[in-house]
Amino acid sequence: QVLILDFGGQYNQLIARRVRECNVYCEVKPYTMTLEAIKAFNPIGIIFTGGPNSVYEDASPKVDPAVFELGIPVLGICYGCQLMAHTLGGEVTAAHDDSAREYGKTVTYYNTDCKLFKGMPQEGISWMSHGDYMAKVPTGFELMAHSDACPNVAIADESRGFYGVQYHPEVNHTEHGQTMLHNFLYEVCGAKGEWTMGDYCKTAIAAIREKVGDGKVLLALSGGVDSSVCAGLLAEAIGEQLTCVFVDHGLMRKDEGDEVEEAFGKWTMNFIRVDAEERFLGKLAGISDPETKRKIIGEEFIRVFEEEAKKIGTVDFLAQGTIYPDVIESGHGDAAVIKSHHNVGGLPDYVDFKEIVEPLRQLFKDEVRQLGREVGLPEYLVMRQPFPGPGLAIRVIGDLTKAKLDTLRDADAIFREEIANAGEDKNINQYFAVLTNTRSVGVMGDGRTYDYTLALRGVTTSDFMTADWARIPYDVLDKISVRIVNEVQGINRICYDITSKPPSTIEWE
Ligand code: XMP
Repeated sequence: QVLILDFGGQYNQLIARRVRECNVYCEVKPYTMTLEAIKAFNPIGIIFTGGPNSVYEDASPKVDPAVFELGIPVLGICYGCQLMAHTLGGEVTAAHDDSAREYGKTVTYYNTDCKLFKGMPQEGISWMSHGDYMAKVPTGFELMAHSDACPNVAIADESRGFYGVQYHPEVNHTEHGQTMLHNFLYEVCGAKGEWTMGDYCKTAIAAIREKVGDGKVLLALSGGVDSSVCAGLLAEAIGEQLTCVFVDHGLMRKDEGDEVEEAFGKWTMNFIRVDAEERFLGKLAGISDPETKRKIIGEEFIRVFEEEAKKIGTVDFLAQGTIYPDVIESGHGDAAVIKSHHNVGGLPDYVDFKEIVEPLRQLFKDEVRQLGREVGLPEYLVMRQPFPGPGLAIRVIGDLTKAKLDTLRDADAIFREEIANAGEDKNINQYFAVLTNTRSVGVMGDGRTYDYTLALRGVTTSDFMTADWARIPYDVLDKISVRIVNEVQGINRICYDITSKPPSTIEWE
């Protein structure tokens, strides 16, 4: 196992994820971890992360210099590199206005005789973000990489297994960054690469059992990937001690509610499906403003969940499917509200519980999906596309009726089926149908129709913050259009949405 000592950098969990990608177990611990605890952890290597401080300031985070006497290889990244240099007798200074201060993509030249850069090209882009630089490297260290502006971008004392890089190998912008981390783990630390997500699953289950003991756990299940994987993992760990409340608001896609219920049938937990369709539709009747719809659904969801929770009484833990990107995103409190996102989770006050459990808190989305497979959730649930909490209510534009929802469900199911048939589901990150509030004239058989226009939306995106419209082949669109107009009553015209985000958003409301 590898120890990642956290000095407060932005990318620390990303480092952990990259290490896991190399099939090596790791844990991120605060830099204040004692020397004794480090020894007890017995890592094969230690990674010092980046951080916002300057090592030459008295108050900046430091390590016990004895950590360098343990015979354990160390990789210092950015601040971690400077800390290593500073601690071992080098000199780090502010790169005032001279050009050694670097931010962003930087052409970097590597000494590929160095173990860290083995098998790499001698030149590549690295992602820098530092205002300090190493004016003098410690005794025993050699310069292993440089850029046009900076002579010492990477340093190493190969005899002791100490490596330091000024840039961030963990971010995608650094070319061959993963090779460098792989080299550190395998060439320097002698990792065996035997760790898998299956092991993570076992560790997570053991940790849940230890934390929960014989306590009761309550989870609000939305049927999305995160809450489903969280539920599956908890069910595997504590079985009947878990109660899942699945609020079926009647705004899900075709057959989705039944699929969710079926997927969890194999566990002996307490599964409660609340059929709240009428209740939600009643509250939403006549409402056409998107934000009002969102607020009503969010509030109603909480109320239904609360009522169920009251029936259950006091529980020891409330479980939430928070994943790492949620943890980061919730840090940006000043951002403008574009849409009030409603998520299952963040409910708290009105539910009587003592503590929160969030077993997915360190994982990225694709890791969560992998973990879902490990606990035995079906592929369609694990690979489910993002689906907004307010569901189809925000994909029926304007006011909402059960008939409109059913029309949309049928059309959306055909769209998804044909996209999958064409193998396009691998290329498109999210795709769905929207029932617009516009009716237009058409002709079917010999008769005039005056029916709704359906919009199709498909986007490619890596983070859903920005997105491009997907270039779905014309013949696939054609097939979808013909099938929907023929098979779904009430639709006589189909449009494809060709706007990116920004200026549009992915959803229409
Ligand atoms: P927008 O429409 O803001 O959507 O471009 C970005 C992504 O977020 C999803 N989305 C939601 N997810 N609760 C969610 O959990 C919501 O209320 C919600 N609204 C939008 C949307 O489907 C897209 O993936």
